[in-house]
Amino acid sequence: MNAHVPSASAPATPSSHGALPPGSLAFRAAMRKLAGSVSVLTVGQGEARTGLTATSVSSLSVEPPTLVICVNRAASSFATLLSERVFAINVLRTAHQGVADRFAGVGGIKGAARYADADWTRLATGAPVLADALAAFDCELEDAIERHSHVIVIGRVVASRITENAEPLLYWAGGYRGLAL
Ligand SMILES: Cc1cc2nc3c(=O)[nH]c(=O)nc-3n(C[C@H](O)[C@H](O)[C@H](O)COP(=O)(O)O)c2cc1C
Repeated sequence: MNAHVPSASAPATPSSHGALPPGSLAFRAAMRKLAGSVSVLTVGQGEARTGLTATSVSSLSVEPPTLVICVNRAASSFATLLSERVFAINVLRTAHQGVADRFAGVGGIKGAARYADADWTRLATGAPVLADALAAFDCELEDAIERHSHVIVIGRVVASRITENAEPLLYWAGGYRGLAL
């Protein structure tokens, strides 16, 4: 093996400066070990609806109720998110793998076509909400903080709903998973 080309299975050895190089395969390999709950961000109205699949959703604060999601500024839904300023985060169930694929753009699906084969409703803001999501958070965009390739979006949660007796769709090591315990 070429000693200068890191492999995905190589140990995550920091450089002599203690920092991983940009685009580091070691960083990617380590991040693949981070299990994530899969959500879709939904935004827009009618034929202007769009959105993306995301594992970067996290709670920020309870008082006030806020969450964060990191969105790539190159994502096709980014401009709509900034102009609409309201959006929903829909936490997916194991039955929603097709939704996850569509909102990730698998097969080149864009915009409103990502909303096919699922039931949609609204809560408070009017943003599209997946009717049978494990959990749904209806948000106003509180802040969007540019950092590197992404924007850290802070959502002020104005309404939420949950579905009982359902299990989350997880993403780990490059594939979809379910709870195994
Ligand atoms: C499991 C999974 C998790 C993802 N998480 C994020 C994320 O947190 N933030 C993000 O910007 N993109 C994330 N993506 C990528 C976007 O879903 C994808 O780039 C986007 O929907 C397609 O880009 P487009 O809208 O420009 O076609 C994720 C994709 C997958 C499959």
